[in-house]
Amino acid sequence: MKTGVCYYPEHWPEQQWANDAARMHALGLRVVRIGEFAWSRLELADGTLHLDWLQRAIDTLHQAGLSVVLGTPTATPPRWMLDRYPDMLAVDANGRSRDFGSRRHYCFSYQPYIEQCKRIVKILARQFGEHPGVIAWQTDNEYGCHSTSISYSPAALAAFRHWCQQRYGSIQSLNEAWGNVFWSMEYDTFDQIGLPTGTVTESNPAHRLAYWRFSSDQIKHFNKVQVDILRQFSPGRDILHNFMGNFVEFDHHDVARDLDIAAWDNYPLGFLTRDNQDPSDQEFYVRTGHPDGSGFHHDLYRGCCNRRWWVMEQQPGPVNWAPYNPSPLKGMVRLWGWEAFAHGAEVMSYFRWRQAPFAQEQTHTGLLLSNGDDDVAAGEVAQLNAELQQLKALLSREQLHAVLNPNDRQSANASVDPDHNRPETALPVQADVAIVFSYAGIAIQDIQPPGGDAFSALGFCQRVYSACRQWGVNVDIVSPDAPLTDYKLLLLCACTEDDPKLVSALTEARAQNSVSIVLFPGTGSRTAEYQIPPNLAPGHFQSLLPVRVIRSESLPAAQSVRAIDQHDQSANTGQWREHLHSDVTPSMHFGDGWGYRYQHQGIHYINAVPEQADLIDTIGEILNNCNIPTRNLGPHLRTQRIGPVQVAFNYGAQSVELDKILGETLGFHHDTTLIVGSRTLAQAQVAVWVVR
Ligand code: GAL
Repeated sequence: MKTGVCYYPEHWPEQQWANDAARMHALGLRVVRIGEFAWSRLELADGTLHLDWLQRAIDTLHQAGLSVVLGTPTATPPRWMLDRYPDMLAVDANGRSRDFGSRRHYCFSYQPYIEQCKRIVKILARQFGEHPGVIAWQTDNEYGCHSTSISYSPAALAAFRHWCQQRYGSIQSLNEAWGNVFWSMEYDTFDQIGLPTGTVTESNPAHRLAYWRFSSDQIKHFNKVQVDILRQFSPGRDILHNFMGNFVEFDHHDVARDLDIAAWDNYPLGFLTRDNQDPSDQEFYVRTGHPDGSGFHHDLYRGCCNRRWWVMEQQPGPVNWAPYNPSPLKGMVRLWGWEAFAHGAEVMSYFRWRQAPFAQEQTHTGLLLSNGDDDVAAGEVAQLNAELQQLKALLSREQLHAVLNPNDRQSANASVDPDHNRPETALPVQADVAIVFSYAGIAIQDIQPPGGDAFSALGFCQRVYSACRQWGVNVDIVSPDAPLTDYKLLLLCACTEDDPKLVSALTEARAQNSVSIVLFPGTGSRTAEYQIPPNLAPGHFQSLLPVRVIRSESLPAAQSVRAIDQHDQSANTGQWREHLHSDVTPSMHFGDGWGYRYQHQGIHYINAVPEQADLIDTIGEILNNCNIPTRNLGPHLRTQRIGPVQVAFNYGAQSVELDKILGETLGFHHDTTLIVGSRTLAQAQVAVWVVR
């Protein structure tokens, strides 16, 4: 893994650039992202191009031994663009236009803006596409950030009508698919179709799902237009996009299909304070982030582009945008770096080099203070880089080759070009367990939440992930289209769409290596057009396990429902529960006679939302049945295996004795020598060793 940084040469006097570049190199950084917000400095209102400064910036960085990722500047259309195209603005659900004065104010469906994007991308790609210092391109910046995935503009409405025509062919088919006979919602022509907003009560969920799919397709198209130009004029360079954390507003698997690398922006403390609903997590992990917050996303994005992924922006200290912005504990910046390495990142790049003394993000830290002095993170990054070098020296080339045998899922990406700081092949991350993660499935649950207001479909997937990780296993998170045959256990999280293709892939995986499968509540409960399957939920999945959902209930957040088995073992569930009909005998019963947990020959249906302790026990039991070796790490300690290297991270307040907790299962023997860290692992510390 190489480290890098996000840099804005246009914010600083040119005389400073060479010194900045030399200092970056001295810290061990090798990759620099620039340019993604610089349109107003690249092109003036009168059409004059000013590419010379960018040329000098790239030259300066390259000469200092740094490789450049060039961002296309399309997330920040300059003011003159708006004068020319006043209708380019995205419109929110209340019909209000977003305005100029920050960023991302464009609508993905406004064709003249797409033409402008094509133009500027072509200019940049022609000018810099073959520069020896440019190794990669980033398209735009964080699609969907600031609630911009979905726009309700006139351009979007027109494009949506066209999209519907393509998808449904005739208005009769659309009416049929959406069930528009209900409440006399039938349309006579495609031109009558409106936006799924502003209706008296909720709009048709099928209409909303279609609008979600359409909006996702618009982002895919917007991205693909840029990718095609970059491929033409910048051969051999990787193309990536920086996706976000805790974000499911479009189908990332689908957009990523056109990219070489899925990158994401990791702000562990920002995400905890903004998104975590659990007050005890908020308090306990306030300076570390949640132990599974980064890991979940690392594994999710590793599943997007054939296992190639980066962290494009990494939190270095307090950020500016969460409800409150604490300072990380000493050691966390280094720990987050090791964690990214252990999950297989090719590059971990910090946001940003120097804190900006002006504008919206002036309270957001960087590696340097705004006056140019080193900030705390700089020291931790230097230490991380020195340690990574030490590990690299230890794993000789021969050993690397032994690890990268031809059957590795990653070997296809092996390419080493040290002269250009190209990322070398990351060591392979292998997992026996995969979570099958469906963005459309999450959208279906979010449109009509089946578990009441307190239930979050994404949050539940993250709880399942956490439960696995507590048992010390590596986890892949993959799309429903991914190859599934190499796993021992597949967990279907939010696979709400009744997807016959996924059912065939699961059947095939069963036939090939008798993989075990866990279905969670809601699996296969809606067709692709948001209807209940004709044979009831879980639709086609019934061919795997003969169960049928005859009732689903949601409950207040605080209410818990207990199930017990014949030996008086109990499990607590809450929020959402299903009543099944089946010939299979459930393992437990609720007090009202509903069954809980059905399993038959390695296929499990968990028909309620277990409380976390019970979810952990259930997953532990299933891992054991699959002969997957486990150790209970508790809530705060995590491990991750990459190639022959095992890394442990302590997110908890207490030191832990690795000898007591890890054991041989995780390759930790009494005579194991640590490459980094110590056997008593303090909070925010990392231990690294090579497994024999
Ligand atoms: C990201 C964004 C960056 C910067 C950063 C601040 O979402 O891509 O441009 O705004 O947040 O944390």
